[in-house]
Amino acid sequence: MKVRTAVFPVAGLGTRLLPATKSIPKEMVTLIDKPLIQYAVEEVIAAGIERVIFVSARSKRALEDHFDYSPELEYQLEGNNKNELLEEMKRISEMCDITYVRQKNPKGLGHAVLCARDAVGREPFAVILPDDIIMSKTPVTAQLIEQFNQTKKSVISLMEVPEGDTSKYGIVVPGEKVNDRLMRLEGMVEKPKENPPSNLAIIGRYILTNEVMDALENIPRGAGGEIQLTDAILEVAKQSRVYGYHFEGKRFDCGNRFGLFEAAVNFALEREDMREHAMNVIKGMQI
Ligand code: UTP
Repeated sequence: MKVRTAVFPVAGLGTRLLPATKSIPKEMVTLIDKPLIQYAVEEVIAAGIERVIFVSARSKRALEDHFDYSPELEYQLEGNNKNELLEEMKRISEMCDITYVRQKNPKGLGHAVLCARDAVGREPFAVILPDDIIMSKTPVTAQLIEQFNQTKKSVISLMEVPEGDTSKYGIVVPGEKVNDRLMRLEGMVEKPKENPPSNLAIIGRYILTNEVMDALENIPRGAGGEIQLTDAILEVAKQSRVYGYHFEGKRFDCGNRFGLFEAAVNFALEREDMREHAMNVIKGMQI
């Protein structure tokens, strides 16, 4: 079955980016000149996704507005002959059809995904955490879909982390290797303080089958009293099969200030219209 739907859980409070997120959603925080959510939506569109579902909450209206028409703005831009900007604004509004579902209580990432169950239907789907921004030649969602098309089972994205950093992530217990990058998932240890089972961490891109939705319905609340997506994935890994894929690309955790800053520097150096300026700024710093 084709993966044509992507679920974006965007109901979190984003406390690590306060005060920026006091009155704007975390996903609307900008990386250079685009909100984080736009990078993530562009990634899935480039991967062939046709339907986007936002699992949203109160005070997230700015997200809906960002992907809608803005008649006053378009009128102004047209009047001022700012045609390139006008086209860009229209492109954003027409990027995709978005369905919104509400997570009324923030009961965890797993619960947020479960809220999208009816909207997804009985088909495989991608889950995208938009504060993980990934710079890569092939969109990571496309890399994962390619793996799903071969395995027909859930595939989660994995990233190598330095030894000293394993205690900050969910670290997988790798099983049988399919190839250099693809492996079966045996288990996962959340933020291991010592003896991590590997140096491969789970990050915010998943292709999931309905087995995971079914598991989410039945698992008890986990860490922090929340319904955890990883608990459901591990349940499926035990009963059936789940794969981990060590993707190609560089990931930035834009849900915290350090990651956001690092991403801004890297993206500025990648962008043709900014590279020279960014280089001059960096060279001119007397550190
Ligand atoms: P985070 O752990 O980053 O939580 O959630 P958060 O609230 O967004 O941010 P901090 O930690 O307070 O700074 C990971 C993803 O899961 C979503 C978030 O929106 C984010 O995309 N999420 C989390 C939900 O949609 N609902 C929840 O109940 C929890």
